[in-house]
This record gives sequence, C-alpha cells and structure tokens, in this order.
Amino acid sequence: MGYLPSVLIPKPRGALSDVLFEAMRTSTPSWDDVLDTEPDHDDDAQIALWALYELHYRGFEDVDDDLEWQPELLQVRRALEQPFEARLRDRFDVPDVTSPFADAFFDYVAGHDGRSLAAFVQRDADADQVRELLSVRTIYHLKESDPSAWLVPRLAVAPQAALMELQYDEYGAGDPNRLHAHLFARGLEACGLRSEYGAYIDDVPSEVLEQNNAMSLFGLHRRLRGAALGHLAAFEATSSLPSRRMTQGLDRLGFPAEMIGYYDEHVEADAVHEQLAVRVVCGTLLDAEPTLVDDVFFGAFTCLDLEDRFAGAMLEAWAA
Ligand SMILES: [Fe+2]
Ligand SMILES: [Fe+2]
Repeated sequence: MGYLPSVLIPKPRGALSDVLFEAMRTSTPSWDDVLDTEPDHDDDAQIALWALYELHYRGFEDVDDDLEWQPELLQVRRALEQPFEARLRDRFDVPDVTSPFADAFFDYVAGHDGRSLAAFVQRDADADQVRELLSVRTIYHLKESDPSAWLVPRLAVAPQAALMELQYDEYGAGDPNRLHAHLFARGLEACGLRSEYGAYIDDVPSEVLEQNNAMSLFGLHRRLRGAALGHLAAFEATSSLPSRRMTQGLDRLGFPAEMIGYYDEHVEADAVHEQLAVRVVCGTLLDAEPTLVDDVFFGAFTCLDLEDRFAGAMLEAWAA
C-alpha cells in the first residue's frame, strides 16, 4: 500500500491498453511494442489515457511511481491527447459574445443545459440505479477539485487568489472532515459502497473516462488554462440545483444521511462557487488574458456536452 490508498491498474479494454498496462506493470517493459500499438477503439484509447493521467495523481499499487515521467509513456499520452482534444474542439462552435462576460457566460450555460441525471434521481430512479450512478461518479468525486489544483501556479494574481478561495472550500477549509472528496467517501461507506479511489474503474462507461480525461487534459497543459477554468465555472454553475435534486431523490429512497450530506453541502457551497468561478476566477483571468475567452467557452461547452452525453448513456441504458 502506498502513501495514499490506491488501486491496481485497470482491466485493459483493447489492444493498446493491453500492451500498455502489461508494460507498466512489468520490471522489463517493451516500450517498442507499446509505441507500435494503436488503440483499436475509443474505449481502449480512453482507458489508456485515464491510466496514464492517473500516474500524475495517485498512481497504482502495481506500477512503479518512477514511470510518471517515463518518456515513452509521455509519448503515448501525447499521441492519445492530440486526437482527443481535436475531437472535443470539433464539437464546439465559438459563440459570439456581445454582452459583459459573466452575463454571456450564464446565458451560455443556461442555453446548453442537457439531460439531467439529478432530475431522474429526484423523481424516478430506483435504489439500484442510484447506487450505480454513485459508483461511476466516484471516478471524479473521490478526486474532486484535484484537476483544478494544477492551475494554481499558472495564473495571474487576481484569478490565482480567486481560485484559491474556491479551492480552500473544496478541500475542507482546513478541516479534513469537510474536504469534499472525503465527504463523498464517507457517504459511499455509509451506503455500503467502496470508497478507495478507482475501485469502480472497470465498470465505468467511456463517457465517464472522457469526462475525467478532459479535466486532466485541461489541467495538465498550461496552454489550456482558459479551457480548464471555463470547465470549472460551468461545472460550478450547474451544480447547486442538481445537488438539491440529488438530496431529494436520496431522501425519497432512504439513503444514508452521510450521502445526502455530501450533496447538501453542494447546494449552498456551489451557489456561492458559481458566482466566484464565473465572475471572479474567469472574469479576472480574462481581464489579465483576454485572448483566452474562446477557450473559456470551449472548456464550458466541453463540461456541459460531456455531462449531457454521460447522462444520455445512463438514461438510455436504464430505459432498455
Ligand atoms: Fe465540491
Ligand atoms: Fe464547488
């Protein structure tokens, strides 16, 4: 066991992840085989990218920590990131922003609101569906805010101070028992679900991998800081109301208070965070670096689009 609770590398989902994960586990890897292998479908590419990013977060029990900066792995990561970013950008149309930024941003988010899992949980979901949803949400909620933490040293003074104000809350304002990822872990345990990071990785659909990979892509590349903060702002701006719906659905189904408490925390916190993230973090970012405006909207679009696609996949699977 490492210094943080971590899991084994996931199950491969195709040709690339098969040779890649084998090479990451062994002490005598054949990097040439890895570099010669293409992903044979998108799910294969996404799980490979997720595992490569994870080396920069908590790592894996069965992978040497030193591989975080292995040149061949960075080469594979780059080969996966380039088509992934291109595909995300292809889905996005740059909006014509005429009103002041914050007004335009809130209008944009309202205009791109997609299918809602929280609304389904509030009214219709059964307990098994909610447990399934909570287990796939672990891939983000158990490292909530970590992808935004990469941004801190990359910003001008005003957006840096504002981002830290927001992050201070997300990380518990000095109290480990208020740290959001930890609140979610305690909620999972109260539900009888596993709380170690990555425990459900083999069960999550490709859409969840894409959501998490997009956040890591934006967070780990300084040139994408605008997209990272636009993503954060859209995330916060679409959290408070869905969190209230989640509390009502969990309450309707008799879920434990600890899990309801996690969402309850976000009803009020994110009503504040959305203002902070849009008006102050992104607003002052664009005062300092106005050319990033298109990327701020690109990040916001990606957040909303990926959540809509994830919600669609879950709702369709449940309707089948
Ligand atoms: Fe949070
Ligand atoms: Fe928040």
